[in-house]
Amino acid sequence: MIRLPGLIDPHVHLREPGAIHKEDYDSGTASALAGGVTMVLAMPNTKPPIFDADTLDLALQAASQKARCDYAQYLGAGPDNADVVASLAPRAAALKMYLDSTFGQLRLDDMSLWMEHFRKWPGETPIVTHSESHAMGAAILMAHLYDKPIHIAHISLREEVLLIKAAKERGVQVTCEVCPHHLFLSSGGIPLSPAGDDCCADGLSAGRAEVRPRLATRADVESLWENLDVIDCFATDHAPHTSLEKDGESPPPGFPGLETLLPLLLTAVQEGRLTLEQLLEKSVVNPGRIFNLPVQPETWVEVDEKARYEIKSAELHSRCGWTPFEGWQVQGRVTRVVLRGREAYKDGRVLVEPGFGRNVRG
Ligand code: NCD
Ligand code: ZN
Repeated sequence: MIRLPGLIDPHVHLREPGAIHKEDYDSGTASALAGGVTMVLAMPNTKPPIFDADTLDLALQAASQKARCDYAQYLGAGPDNADVVASLAPRAAALKMYLDSTFGQLRLDDMSLWMEHFRKWPGETPIVTHSESHAMGAAILMAHLYDKPIHIAHISLREEVLLIKAAKERGVQVTCEVCPHHLFLSSGGIPLSPAGDDCCADGLSAGRAEVRPRLATRADVESLWENLDVIDCFATDHAPHTSLEKDGESPPPGFPGLETLLPLLLTAVQEGRLTLEQLLEKSVVNPGRIFNLPVQPETWVEVDEKARYEIKSAELHSRCGWTPFEGWQVQGRVTRVVLRGREAYKDGRVLVEPGFGRNVRG
């Protein structure tokens, strides 16, 4: 048995308000605890999106009644809310800016709209951007011009990690995260084992493989592994859609990920692709520093590092009912989670009630 600090996931979608048939603050934070994640930062692309005081109150009201682990809520950058979100910054996880098309209504095309936000955001927490490829280059330039920290969500491409590396070498305030699915799956949903070999499990159907950013080529995946030292955080981008929706006419993009993050990464540690120290730096220390998060007292995760088992969606707590890692063999099982002195999870069961979770910006 090994004991780890509680993990922080800086990028999850809990679907509340507006799509709680996919997930809500209750099921999503139960899923987090089962995965050894004790703090989540919730994205604002809900219905309605979280982009002013009223919608922030709406999300936080649900969260205070339903969350089982600790949390903070993101604000979304819209075309005319730069002053409003800047004034709400102390109550929020950070500001999310969507510069590429994805699931939901938040999207900023015109760079003059980005400029308003970069000028006005206070900068105690970063502006987090969904910005792929060239858009990422433009976003980093803008952060640099306005002297504000920027955090690039879910990088997936070789060109992205190389540009971030070059920017960091020049002292630009840029940080970034990578998702497990961009480390363990390649384009077309072809599975790679945690050792990087083609995996025994079946590939994903086209609908299930839909995700933004898209799964990338094998060369991209390899360059992320080669440049792990450039990557600040692991984040799941837990983006649950039901199996019915994923297998339907127009499958929405997104994968659940909270409960598979730690087993996949621990298996990579076993395979010698990652050290436990790197895992903790990118899942606890760096997210805590980048997002200015409080330390959770008397909080830890117990892991049976020898346990080998198969990932099964039937055993997961997310409401979405599927995982892209179905049938994967992993090593390392979360057996118990203690959160602020309370036994929060043990052997498959979440033991803290909805409402136990605290708003870390409260
Ligand atoms: C996310 C979602 O479903 O909310 N989907 C995804 O493919 N990642 C949207 C997002 O994170 O951009
Ligand atoms: Zn996301």
